[in-house]
Amino acid sequence: MTPEQQRAALVAALTDAGSLPAEWAPAVAAVPRHEFLPDTIWADEDGGDTECSRTKEPERWMRLAYSDLPIVTQWDDGAGDGDHRTPTSSASMPTMVAEMLSDLDAVPGHRVLEIGTGTGYNAALLAHRLGAETVSTVEVDAQVTAQARTALRRTGYTPEVVCGDGALGWGARAPYDRIISTVSLRDIPPAWVAQTRPGGVIVSPVSPLLGGGAIVRLTVGGDGTASGPFTRSAAFMMLRQQRYQGTPVDDYLPGEWPGDSGQSWTSLDPEAIGGDWLAQFACALALPDVYYRRNEFGDGGWTWWLFDTAVTSWATVDSVPGESRFEVRQSGPRQLWDETEASYTRWTAAGRPGYERYGLTVSPAGQAAWLDEPGNPLPGHRK
Ligand SMILES: C[S@@+](CC[C@H](N)C(=O)[O-])C[C@H]1O[C@@H](n2cnc3c(N)ncnc32)[C@H](O)[C@@H]1O
Repeated sequence: MTPEQQRAALVAALTDAGSLPAEWAPAVAAVPRHEFLPDTIWADEDGGDTECSRTKEPERWMRLAYSDLPIVTQWDDGAGDGDHRTPTSSASMPTMVAEMLSDLDAVPGHRVLEIGTGTGYNAALLAHRLGAETVSTVEVDAQVTAQARTALRRTGYTPEVVCGDGALGWGARAPYDRIISTVSLRDIPPAWVAQTRPGGVIVSPVSPLLGGGAIVRLTVGGDGTASGPFTRSAAFMMLRQQRYQGTPVDDYLPGEWPGDSGQSWTSLDPEAIGGDWLAQFACALALPDVYYRRNEFGDGGWTWWLFDTAVTSWATVDSVPGESRFEVRQSGPRQLWDETEASYTRWTAAGRPGYERYGLTVSPAGQAAWLDEPGNPLPGHRK
């Protein structure tokens, strides 16, 4: 198949799946995604990212370029030591690109800011439909920015490409009708709200600390706040400045485990949360300052460690396969497992609400998560 035929097949597949709105189909049919990819790419075709070189496997490379897969284009911020620990730039999965454009609801004439230029492919789609003169895109990585500029020039698209920290937005062309981020955050930057006109829309992935992730669609009000629901599940790369490494365990527990912790028991296996992306997300929204790590201790058992970002409290829970009760240890002013279990119980008692029943309100004072309506904030967000 020629690249044109592969694009037509991609448009048909995305349209049949209900992911691609008709008004964006001509852009996906026209913009040559393969021109935005480097010669060496990585894609997860069947478990694990495998490398593909255009020189060595030209047909596979071209097929991947038009597959409904995210294509990794950079590891470890370009560290180049070959270890490939964390993917840090990519061309996002076409289904997600299409669905986020659907959420964005941009029309010609709109001034649009994209955060996370990456390959430049999404900026080209925006420029194709909306006109390059109203599209700006910000990328933090200098090398990625240079590659995107080259690809955009080669394919004839001329949006404004800025190298900088997208968390600051891009004040030079504000106010925007739409801001779309293709990089995930824990907290939506107040600058984005300030740079969007009242009635304008912000679409962004959100990845709370405890886990899970989803796309939020915020509408900006006239009062300096923005509010709106999550629309769909999503797993995106994190904004550089909001990656969270955690604090060494010794800072929480200077001596030997179990330290001064109190012992209790739970019938809730923490893996019931860890193994369910939506459950994790629901708990994470309610506990924005709690994170976890888990260590395998053999025979499929896991010790869950819960921590708060203020470094005051920790908890452990042992998940032992086949057991019906699990040992809990908690230390500090907060009982972190009890809080997590209560969040999970509230989620199940509410009928396991999906992403679209949760939402966020962002104000200069911070952000608050809610269920069903902004007037019903989750417990961790009540004032
Ligand atoms: C998933 S990729 C973006 C995909 C891209 N829109 C495309 O069409 O190919 C995320 C990008 O966000 C960038 N990024 C990370 N932190 C950023 C920040 N603070 N400001 C701007 N870009 C950032 C990464 O370097 C990466 O290139």
